[in-house]
Amino acid sequence: MMKLWGGRFSTGTAKILDEFNASIPFDKELYIEDIEGSIAHSQMLANQGILSEEEAQKIKEGLLQIKKEIENGEFTWDIADEDIHMAIEKRLIELIGDTGKKLHTARSRNDQVAVDFRRWVLKRNLDLAKKIKELIEVFVNIAKEHKNTLLPGMTHLQHAQPISFAYHMLAYASMFKRDYERFIESYKRNNKNPLGCAALAGTPHNIDRFQTTKALGFDEPTINCLDTVSDRDFALEILFNISMLMMHASRISEELIIWSTSEFGFITLSDEYSTGSSIMPQKKNPDVPELIRGKTGRVYGNLVALLTVMKGLPLAYNKDTQEDKEPVFDSVKNALISIEILKETLKTMSVNADKMYEACKKGHLTATDLADYLVNKGVPFREAHHITGRAVALAESKGVDLSDLSLEELKKIDNRIGDDLDLSLENSMNSRKSYGATAPQRVQEQIEYFEKFLKES
Ligand code: ARG
Repeated sequence: MMKLWGGRFSTGTAKILDEFNASIPFDKELYIEDIEGSIAHSQMLANQGILSEEEAQKIKEGLLQIKKEIENGEFTWDIADEDIHMAIEKRLIELIGDTGKKLHTARSRNDQVAVDFRRWVLKRNLDLAKKIKELIEVFVNIAKEHKNTLLPGMTHLQHAQPISFAYHMLAYASMFKRDYERFIESYKRNNKNPLGCAALAGTPHNIDRFQTTKALGFDEPTINCLDTVSDRDFALEILFNISMLMMHASRISEELIIWSTSEFGFITLSDEYSTGSSIMPQKKNPDVPELIRGKTGRVYGNLVALLTVMKGLPLAYNKDTQEDKEPVFDSVKNALISIEILKETLKTMSVNADKMYEACKKGHLTATDLADYLVNKGVPFREAHHITGRAVALAESKGVDLSDLSLEELKKIDNRIGDDLDLSLENSMNSRKSYGATAPQRVQEQIEYFEKFLKES
């Protein structure tokens, strides 16, 4: 079949080349951006006297007709059309005749794909940012309920110090807030118009890139056309932002998996968001967090795939770049569903505060408090550490937690220990009042900080 670009060719292309070369099976995803871009372009051409008003109007009507055909499933997709840009242009010419052939004036597929794909990515930056905010809201709501719910804070997955469950949830709120900011910053940085850059060098036609900039909702036109048709930073940024987002999602997922084991029992996942086993009738499996953890690997792969495609490409456009879309479509789709389902899983899980408390009673979580107490009595920290070690050994020998030793027992270990010593878990948490710490009033400040962010951003 003869192509729209077939003038200098004496035969059509081989069938296998059509298949190899085509991006249409996946870049049809860009049809709205392509049609909107073409409408803005033709209107600008008319405003500049390059097309007549009637021609621009005819083109617009044809393009809107094509949009309808695509949305009603009436559009004929043909792999030989190569990509969404050619498919729409070919159909436009079928529909409106020779006027359709004028649309591609002062434009190349290189700036066309750049504008379409960039706008698609920009929108998804905002979609993801919105999803993340909904997730943060869930963490904040859980935190509000659990300011006094004690949880063993861990390092090395070993019991360390008592913290509140609220504090733990707000650690995630902090991570996801940075993710939110990254998507918004990426949007702002990349909201620049590639249209009108043409193949690589700009165009001799008297176009006005500021008009299409305004029509398409960009902040300004890109400054250098050679860069613009080569650049896929905006796509790499969303892939990185998603990788970071999913890395955070996989960390809370891992914790949900651990917390829902019978060994921990800190949470119970709702039936709605758990799955069963085909052979073991008793099983309730955390497939949701496991899949999120798994999909994190996949989105890292997508980032590395596109980084590798772009590595060493000479300026300007190279067909390699066509490989940019599938990884981005895949990562965006998987991130959106992962964050949505993570949110629902968190919302519907139950928190077993008694199990958390029980766990806090293991591992002598208040040992640091005893050392700190002795420091306040003038004991050098190293010595205080040693004395506390002896108290821990005593508790171990009696098979109890340090917080369960009586004052009398403790006083016998060191006579600087007085009646004012309180090694309870609650006192330990409440005393950690430094800025950003786990004491309930500090956690309350953090809740207010995130609520303000949710309201104002
Ligand atoms: N389908 C192509 C892509 O996605 C569109 C740009 C083609 N440009 C070209 N000069 N062959 O990259």
